[in-house]
Amino acid sequence: MRIEISNKPIQEILADFEVILVVDKNLNHKFIKDKETLEFLNFKGDGTCLLSKEKRLYVGIKALKFDEIRIALANAYKALKDLKISNFKIASYICGCKTKSFIAFAEGIFLGAYKFDKYKSDKKEESSLKEIFISTDEYSDTEFDINHAENGLRIGEIMANSANFAKNIINEIPEIYTPEKMAEDAEVLASDYAGLTCKVYDENFLVSQNMNAFLAVNRSSSHPPRLIHLIYKPEVEPKKRIIFVGKGLTYDSGGLSLKPSDYMLTMKSDKSGAAAAMAIVKGAAELELPFEIHAILGATENMIGGNSYKPDDILISRSGVTIEVRNTDAEGRLVLADCLDFAQDLEPDILIDLATLTGACMVGLGEYTSGILGNNEELKKEFKKYAEESGEFYTILEFNDYLRDLIKSNIADISNSASSRYGGSITAGLFLDKFIRKEYKDKWMHLDIAGPAYLEKDWGYNSFGASGAGVRACLYYLFKITKGEK
Ligand code: BES
Ligand code: ZN
Ligand code: ZN
Repeated sequence: MRIEISNKPIQEILADFEVILVVDKNLNHKFIKDKETLEFLNFKGDGTCLLSKEKRLYVGIKALKFDEIRIALANAYKALKDLKISNFKIASYICGCKTKSFIAFAEGIFLGAYKFDKYKSDKKEESSLKEIFISTDEYSDTEFDINHAENGLRIGEIMANSANFAKNIINEIPEIYTPEKMAEDAEVLASDYAGLTCKVYDENFLVSQNMNAFLAVNRSSSHPPRLIHLIYKPEVEPKKRIIFVGKGLTYDSGGLSLKPSDYMLTMKSDKSGAAAAMAIVKGAAELELPFEIHAILGATENMIGGNSYKPDDILISRSGVTIEVRNTDAEGRLVLADCLDFAQDLEPDILIDLATLTGACMVGLGEYTSGILGNNEELKKEFKKYAEESGEFYTILEFNDYLRDLIKSNIADISNSASSRYGGSITAGLFLDKFIRKEYKDKWMHLDIAGPAYLEKDWGYNSFGASGAGVRACLYYLFKITKGEK
């Protein structure tokens, strides 16, 4: 898809179709040319209205806000993609910041265009829609800098493509997407960018590192585990070292504490944290962010068999903390415990883990929102503020010492499953906190993306399946702190 900007008045641009956003439900905007027809059709700005003779598509937009622009453009693309047209034109709809409006524009298009139809025999023809012409004529009397618009479109495309990259990983089936496949993908990614390097560690390395919590989860899988370390180094002297740790459960059956069938379904998406971390590194390289950015991915399956780790086992983690296993389905925190310990050896300035960690997060926050947990109030608030500009939803979940008591163990240093089912996302976060050293307590944040990582119905510009949760949120955050913006 090519998006071209011109300062020609929209009526002078030749195109196969025109898209008009409808903000005013009374249909009074100057761009609306078919008021009578729209009134006759009783179109009040809900969804889209396609007038084939006039070759115009009207798209409802709730308000001129960045996320509404994304949704409207995704809806426009979906309404036009199957038509026999090769382009459409549209005026620019700017809300406040010009660059951000164009970022949102491109994100809407590229997120809306995502599809995963690899396993459909009856694949839809590739869309002939390949070009969009944006007119900035409306702003010609202001100091409109076309470079801002073009830069916005470029950033938006990178953001969306990074999220789509993660979606492809998450949507892939567990038969194909094994830890070895994740390692292979990380190596291919690293070979595509000059600033990236990748190290892949196998089970022997994990043994040598005493990563026994990680290894325990892997024990009855027929696929060996992989610890994947991707590094992006900018050309300039890096301002900070930021490490993302991703939960990469290529399948979570629950292990011996087996999940009921209904809950097991969609657990190919338990690798969403790792996929997001990998996609963030890709995005960071394309945006040429001035940070050294690492992704540490803990890739394994959680399966069931004669060699499975068991409730009652006690594991000695890499950090030396002993863990009583009370539920083998609380496996993500075991993998993360060892990966977070490994990550701290690399002396990060900021350490963020991403994980589909708890069903409780979904129960508590709904399917649309991720949880932010950690010890540094300012960091959490700042992250929430910047990350939400991406259109993703975040809520801060607070730690407290009463909940911390629930993961005490009688026979080991900590239990992997709380004694109460209430506050499950927070007790999971508190479990991770046990593996964060004193000097990193304020540098660490845990993102529980269990709710929005995988959708069973479409919403906004997200379609069925993986949403790429965490990717754009973290890239927006990184982008903002690049500028030192508060
Ligand atoms: N991968 C799941 C969490 C999950 C559930 C993610 C639903 C996305 C959708 C995780 O490993 C898990 O099973 N957690 C348990 C923890 C419990 C046993 C303490 C849970 O949330 O039930
Ligand atoms: Zn689990
Ligand atoms: Zn899991």
